[in-house]
Amino acid sequence: MKRILVTGGLGYIGSHTVVALQEEGFEVVVIDNLSNSEVSVLDGIESITRKRPAFENIDLRVKKDVEDFFDNYSVDGIIHFAASKAVGESVENPLLYYENNLHTLVYLLQQCEQHNIHNFIFSSSCTVYGEPDALPITEAAPVKEAVSPYGNTKQISEEVLRDTCHANERLKAISLRYFNPIGAHSSAAIGELPKGTPQNLVPFITQTAAGLREQLSVFGDDYPTPDGSCIRDYIHVVDLAEAHVVALQRIIGEKNDANFEIFNLGTGRGSSVLEVVNAFENVSGEKLNYKIVDRRPGDVIAVYADTQKANEVLGWKTKRTMEEALDSAWSWEKKVRGLD
Ligand code: NAD
Ligand code: WQD
Repeated sequence: MKRILVTGGLGYIGSHTVVALQEEGFEVVVIDNLSNSEVSVLDGIESITRKRPAFENIDLRVKKDVEDFFDNYSVDGIIHFAASKAVGESVENPLLYYENNLHTLVYLLQQCEQHNIHNFIFSSSCTVYGEPDALPITEAAPVKEAVSPYGNTKQISEEVLRDTCHANERLKAISLRYFNPIGAHSSAAIGELPKGTPQNLVPFITQTAAGLREQLSVFGDDYPTPDGSCIRDYIHVVDLAEAHVVALQRIIGEKNDANFEIFNLGTGRGSSVLEVVNAFENVSGEKLNYKIVDRRPGDVIAVYADTQKANEVLGWKTKRTMEEALDSAWSWEKKVRGLD
């Protein structure tokens, strides 16, 4: 049985990926410092898979602790989710982001060299494309100057990976550029748990419907899109989790074409903010209190993935609709708030 280290495995995408890995027969060990998650996520994972992953509460910024971990555990591959991800916070506190998102990557890659670990999956983001010149966005689209320190950490991380793979031919790395992950596991045992006021659209919607927020602000209806609101590619987090298993199997099975590869993970379909609001009202039966306000600085107009490379080369495609994702997000919110 292959053993996989999942860093940030108690976070939103990480926890769903731990479930998908266990369901495919991988043994999982999680590192998380609980900076943006709760240890009770382990219970949620266990309730779905009947298997509790090994867990180490380690801060990956502490190099010595990272070294000690690899002296104690041997792993066949690493999926590296752990990072800070709030765009606005990264503008306020860039050094936190450069330290947490870059040092941790470097320390892990050093351990890959030390311990002959050859399989590495990295969480990147469609934010590297900035405002794209053409839609849908292929992996060949240029990386644009980053609009936030957070986005810059993803660009630099990909360069770190590219250079490291160039120098170490035995290392196989895949960078997965996520579009907008939403939703929760169908069991409602795990889901997104934002701390404080949600910055992202769907948790803000579900918290508003649950009565925690008074009103959703729709940031702008005067963009050059059919209804004037911004367009994104919302992907079900369980589809996203499954893509990690496929990517890992690709490199473990040495089916990769190059030792550093990049794939977009999206649905290929763009939805506007107002379409998401409507779809949420339809699936939940709740009327959402929202109002149109000014544009949010830094928002791009429209972003959605060209999925051809992921479909044909990686051999993965999404199976779930945006409505299913919104329905699962709502079930999760109701469970967390005790509204069921
Ligand atoms: P999340 O915050 O829910 O999960 C990240 C986890 O990493 C958390 O559990 C946190 O406690 C942990 N962590 C952070 N710093 C750590 C450290 N120094 N040591 C150990 N653990 C640490 O975030 P998520 O939404 O699951 O995102 C996972 C990854 O995907 C991140 O790299 C993020 O940048 C990337 N990503 C997320 C999105 C999104 O919209 N959610 C989109 C694109 C890319
Ligand atoms: C989606 C749409 C908002 C909240 C961010 C990061 C990106 C990636 C995913 C990590 C936009 C609108 C939102 C609200 C709104 N993360 N909106 N009212 O901005 O596409 O991407 O998360 O890599 O890097 O930038 O996602 O969910 O914040 O916004 O109208 O209260 O919803 O303007 O059009 P975004 P989001």
